[in-house]
Amino acid sequence: MHTIDLIRKKRDGGTLDARELSFLVAGAADESIPPEQLAAWLMATWLRGLSLEETRALTIAMRDSGEKFDPRTLGKIAVDKHSTGGVGDKTSFLVAPLAAACGLAVPMISGRALGHTGGTLDKLEAIPGYRTALALDEFEAVLKRCGASIVSQTPALVPADRVLYALRDRTGTVENPGLICASILSKKLAAGLNALVLDVKTGSGAFLRKREDADYLAALMVATAEAAGTRTAALMTDMSQPLGRMAGNWIEIAECVELLRGERRAGSEDVRELSLLLAGWMIHLGGKADTPQTGSRLAEAALLHGSALDIFFRMVEAQSGDISVFDDLKGFHKPGATEVMEAWKSGYVAEMDTTALGWAVQRLGAGREKAGEPVDPHAGIEFHAKRGTRLKKGQPFATLYATKREMLAEPAELIRKAVTIAEAAPDTVPLIDWIFTKDSAEAYLASRTRS
Ligand code: URA
Repeated sequence: MHTIDLIRKKRDGGTLDARELSFLVAGAADESIPPEQLAAWLMATWLRGLSLEETRALTIAMRDSGEKFDPRTLGKIAVDKHSTGGVGDKTSFLVAPLAAACGLAVPMISGRALGHTGGTLDKLEAIPGYRTALALDEFEAVLKRCGASIVSQTPALVPADRVLYALRDRTGTVENPGLICASILSKKLAAGLNALVLDVKTGSGAFLRKREDADYLAALMVATAEAAGTRTAALMTDMSQPLGRMAGNWIEIAECVELLRGERRAGSEDVRELSLLLAGWMIHLGGKADTPQTGSRLAEAALLHGSALDIFFRMVEAQSGDISVFDDLKGFHKPGATEVMEAWKSGYVAEMDTTALGWAVQRLGAGREKAGEPVDPHAGIEFHAKRGTRLKKGQPFATLYATKREMLAEPAELIRKAVTIAEAAPDTVPLIDWIFTKDSAEAYLASRTRS
């Protein structure tokens, strides 16, 4: 097989078969195909698109391009959740212990903050000592002991994606649904999952802003993962405002620990509700509940009983984290500079540009613009109002936590521009407005192919 022939075939609108895609993926993984040829194939793919069969074959070839985790040694059904990313999106710290408390294994391989969205690993690393880079045998040992483990990708896991994603980033070929689907799913499916729940964000803070694009990606990922043998559902969830009260690193962990302790705070109710819904689907698809509703009830029982909190603490300890910091959540929080931002006029919090709010979190020091940059565990934003809250001028709207005082002004300006305070209350947006399962995803894809 010759790479040049495959590039030409795709360029001219042809369809590559599983063998041809495996050849390209293997060449990316072992770097035997030069980057200029991979880039040409990626651009041809971006322009011509991938059929459903090509997407499936590419996903499977990428999944199998390196080391894989085999959860069968755990003796439990393995489930996970993946979110397309948002601001204040901290449900992993709740759903992983909730599903584990219901008898499932949750081998969660997560990512870091980049751009306007936060990263699960950066948040966990705010806990002193927490190790995210575990070898696969250590990962397995933590899963055996605790039922859940949240770690970073090992260099040997899905090496093809590391090469292809970096090239896509540099060649303007990221935004293609088939390529995105293969990139996300190959990393998740390399953990050997029996079931997967996708949290696909919609609204002003979502990775894909156009609703039809988000629906298409969700349906494509469900159909592709199901075809690869993993039971999958995608929940289309609201990101028209930050999720919960906190957006940052340590402060998001602290919000989750409060919730795992059974505390109820205004502003955190959406994270609690969404986590119970996602966990309910994980428990249902993992075979521990007949319906997702029963799954949510089991998850809520694990929350109220304290077993999920116990699993979270055990997981942190097993990954060398210092759990004494949870004794005093506020005392451990030591930002370099703090400022309370007051409502600049009276009225209802109407619209939020959540992407801009994510950038404000990043500029306070909590995130990074370029891969590899350090993040400040203590920086972030605490929101005192959600969409629909009626505020009086001068009432606290948000507390900003920055690395240093000079870093407060720009995020404050970003927030002011991102949030509209209006006389009329905004329409409410449901937390979840659609769920794709195998049948509805396939029907949706068929209807999009016809139109
Ligand atoms: N996240 C990924 O891991 N891959 C993509 O292609 C897009 C988002």
